[in-house]
Amino acid sequence: MTPEEIRAAIARELPGVRQDLERLVRIPSIAFPGYDHSQVERSADAVAELLRDAGVPDVQIVRSGGQPAVIGRRPGPDGAPTVLLYAHHDVQPTGDAKHWDSDPFEPSERDGRLYGRGVADDKAGVMVHLAALRAFGDNLPVGVVVFVEGEEEFGSESLDDLLREHRDGIAADVIVIADSGNWEIGVPALTTGLRGIVNGFVEVRTAERAVHSGMFGGAVPDALMALAHLITSLHDGNGDVAVPGLVSGVAAPLDMPEARFRQEAGVLDSVGLIGTGPLVERLWSRPAISILGIDAPPADNAPNAIVPVARAKFSVRVAPGDSAQLVFDSVARHLQRHAPWGAQVTVTLEQLGEPCSIDATGPAYDAARTAFAEAWGHEPVDIGIGGSIPFIATFQELFPKASILVTGVEDPHGNAHGPNESLHLGEFEKACVAEALLLQKLAGLKR
Ligand code: BES
Ligand code: MN
Repeated sequence: MTPEEIRAAIARELPGVRQDLERLVRIPSIAFPGYDHSQVERSADAVAELLRDAGVPDVQIVRSGGQPAVIGRRPGPDGAPTVLLYAHHDVQPTGDAKHWDSDPFEPSERDGRLYGRGVADDKAGVMVHLAALRAFGDNLPVGVVVFVEGEEEFGSESLDDLLREHRDGIAADVIVIADSGNWEIGVPALTTGLRGIVNGFVEVRTAERAVHSGMFGGAVPDALMALAHLITSLHDGNGDVAVPGLVSGVAAPLDMPEARFRQEAGVLDSVGLIGTGPLVERLWSRPAISILGIDAPPADNAPNAIVPVARAKFSVRVAPGDSAQLVFDSVARHLQRHAPWGAQVTVTLEQLGEPCSIDATGPAYDAARTAFAEAWGHEPVDIGIGGSIPFIATFQELFPKASILVTGVEDPHGNAHGPNESLHLGEFEKACVAEALLLQKLAGLKR
């Protein structure tokens, strides 16, 4: 198909694609423990049906102990390359519904954006793949393997096993991961670096039990103060990470205007940003540490007693080039060394995810850049993301010869994982055009 035919085909398919996106968003497919996992089954079934209807003959729902993933295969013309198209059909929990302006599971359009949980992350990713398949109808120029995971937001615990079990059936020359985003509205991007993640808990104990804060306060340190000291020790006076031994790299030379960033982040006017150096470096190529939660007596009605034990959950974003396990070891050692007053410190690991960097050179990346430039009318930029897609490292290991293209429809205003998640519908159409153009261009490459 010519680029004009492809554009027209996407325009023709778009209303149906939008309808099916809304249908997927109405399914609250949250893979986290404690949620109704029959909804994840429903969304897997819905994705499988959409793939079959799009002319993918071999569609299976597979699992390896975790939530269901959908694998669809359609062979290409002789000699054509095979392209693996990845997205995930599970979504983040919604958080408190009162922070949403509309029902998270009832998609609603306002000002050119569609609102709902998962509408961007990552059900739009699923639908971009389907839009490209539908645009070609019976004339798909490449072989495809569509892989739609069901537990990405919960850390893809069984994905490694799934990929290894189905390795031969999903092998591809090019892997398109539609779970990232673009630089800004109107400017497409190729993601070439992602941070890894290390989540863990630190527990501090200073006494055997709670005791009267009047009788003992002044001499017995409470565990919350000790925890506060520990948390403070993680950053230096500038707000840069103070844990020794962590890798830092350099980021793509993009300028993120501070005003734009502050606005996207919703940080208060009076609050200074932490860390030093270019913003993109702080966000993409250096480690970051956040405290995600604390276990302690609730402040309301807290008794006049010295708190003997307290616990925090920490989250480290790991720079490309570092190793998640080594980062955990360094953070654990640092916390042990900084225990104030000889407090007992126990550090436990929750989750490790590897960072990755992608050498985005070669014909598949050239094809992607050209497709993006044509779809947007604007040259794409290489970006990093501060977030993590740990299984990309697994794809790199299992398919070392494949070109991995990390793309997606998220934009800086989409508020993925937060309330009022949304998708820019204009950008969504461009992403669909870009993927169809990309498949057409990849057809011209040798296997
Ligand atoms: N789609 C995100 C990754 C992402 C983040 C892309 C920011 C673009 C910008 C992905 O679904 C995600 O949220 N991943 C988790 C990691 C996982 C191990 C739970 C994350 O980064 O917290
Ligand atoms: Mn995602």
